[in-house]
Amino acid sequence: MCGIVGYVGPRQATAILMDGLKRMEYRGYDSAGIAVINGDGLTVRKAAGKLGVLAEELAGNAPTGRVGIGHTRWATHGAPTTPNAHPHVDRSGRIAVIHNGIIENANDLRKALVARGHEFTSQTDTEVLAHLIGEFYDGNLEEAVAAALRDVDGAYGICVISADEPDVLVAARNGSPIILGIGDDEYLVASDQSALVEHTRSVIYLDNGEMAVMTPKGYRVRSLISRRVDKPINQIEWDLETIERGGFEHFMLKEIFEQPESIENTMRGHLLEETGNVRVYGLKLDDDQVKEIKRIIITACGTSWHSGMIGKYMLEELARVPTDVEYASEFRYRNPIIDEHTLVIAISQSGETADTLAALLEAKQRGARTVGLVNVVGSTIAREVDGGLYLRCGPEIGVASTKAFTSQVAALAMVTLRFARLKEMSLLDGKRWVEALAALPGQVREILSRADEVKVLAEQFADANNALYLGRGVNFPTALEGALKLKEISYVHAEGYPAAEMKHGPIALIDDAMPVIVVAPRDAIYGKIVSNVQEVRARGGRIIAITNPGDEEISDLADATFVVPETLDLLSPILTVIPLQLFSYYVALRRGCNVDQPRNLAKSVTVE
Ligand code: M6R
Repeated sequence: MCGIVGYVGPRQATAILMDGLKRMEYRGYDSAGIAVINGDGLTVRKAAGKLGVLAEELAGNAPTGRVGIGHTRWATHGAPTTPNAHPHVDRSGRIAVIHNGIIENANDLRKALVARGHEFTSQTDTEVLAHLIGEFYDGNLEEAVAAALRDVDGAYGICVISADEPDVLVAARNGSPIILGIGDDEYLVASDQSALVEHTRSVIYLDNGEMAVMTPKGYRVRSLISRRVDKPINQIEWDLETIERGGFEHFMLKEIFEQPESIENTMRGHLLEETGNVRVYGLKLDDDQVKEIKRIIITACGTSWHSGMIGKYMLEELARVPTDVEYASEFRYRNPIIDEHTLVIAISQSGETADTLAALLEAKQRGARTVGLVNVVGSTIAREVDGGLYLRCGPEIGVASTKAFTSQVAALAMVTLRFARLKEMSLLDGKRWVEALAALPGQVREILSRADEVKVLAEQFADANNALYLGRGVNFPTALEGALKLKEISYVHAEGYPAAEMKHGPIALIDDAMPVIVVAPRDAIYGKIVSNVQEVRARGGRIIAITNPGDEEISDLADATFVVPETLDLLSPILTVIPLQLFSYYVALRRGCNVDQPRNLAKSVTVE
């Protein structure tokens, strides 16, 4: 969730660090700092607040030097103040450290260091690590870092420099991503590919327990124990343009509008029209293995959990495999029942979410076969699973997940088809399913061409302080996702409910100040939701209905209606969610909120 960048090479480090931090600012943004080796000393500059505050402070007097590290922070230990911002230095002031993650034994280490005379200026676990490295330092930074890390429990992605070895940059990883960028006579380190692509596409992904030592003359990867580990060099596929805003006011809006292409990319090369099936070799599940699976557990967080819920409806309905959907943070601590006939599907846009990763590792340890539906190539979850599908929806920068959600649902639809065609689904139904999937990008494009209709609605409802989202069946998770989108970027309290459940409590909230957004495509349970909408109407609630062309009953009851094209019932969330994403975007805009960087949130949640 914090952003890490490091540089060693012939160019001035400060500009490269600040540029890299800018590209990663979406990951965490309550403070920022850099440290540059300057002559024979170390210059550390940091500031609380957005990166712009630090940039202003550096304007006109940026430190010079060709080796440096930079960090944007999302607070875990200690308030988001300047003293708590990274980099942190050791007792000598000559070693600087940036860190992403949490050092779990920091309190014990701090007590021991204090007993040995150390004084601390921040509340962070990172400063403890800096002092520990300093204690081990006797002229060899690489060995001091390795020795200190052997005493550390917890998660870290770190970068370290020392004024006494002005050509050396050391990085290490355990649990938090660290990627090395291999340039021409220069090396970069980052926690996120976006900080590297401008400089190089050649990268090495460090694995847990690995370190890298870089100088302008070369690099070496090692483990905490051994001196050398051979690592392959990978190529980043995304270019800079795909990471930038491309003329849209916000990343979120750009990403909403990218969905026709992103959904298409997710499915590209997988759909088999002739056989009504999918080609998904990446799952690494042959026919016998699929038949052996007796139970599926989907684990994820946030929006990815919502797509997992939709997956449950699909898998149970069509493949008839019992499927549970678990919050990753709960799953790992509740002694789950898993055997070799259980398939665990981890869903994650970033592939770095700490809870999802831990749940996945727990499942592996208990003998489950694992599959990942992940967007970021080379991310930790993608590398830990037995098989999987990349979402291929391109970088998602806005904190509110949009295009990853629709791609996750499309990926789950393909997994479902793989299972269903081996179990009960006929060739004809398989073909209908493939045809419906292939039609989705065009249908999303059509919805987006009417985004202005949603904008008008959002402006009418933007002053409300609460909202209720209702849906039934597979659109109950859509309602949950709509509510999450609204609350995270516009700070409007919103709840999602199964429509019929409303009468068991939430109905007490309904009055003319409470917008009720009803997701009601004309599916098999449409008739049931009509009665729920009547109950809202009878209590004076203001209703926005998302439905299909030809609907009359709900439109007659609603204050406003937005129609989406018809598709197969189980695929409808991919279409019904689009107006909900747009609605939350326009409400947030109207309320003056920071759409791409909402308060208290980070794009990639790499702490428990
Ligand atoms: O990267 P992941 O998909 O694992 O992230 C999971 C959640 O943190 C994420 O979906 C979060 O809920 C988003 N802010 C939702 O918009």
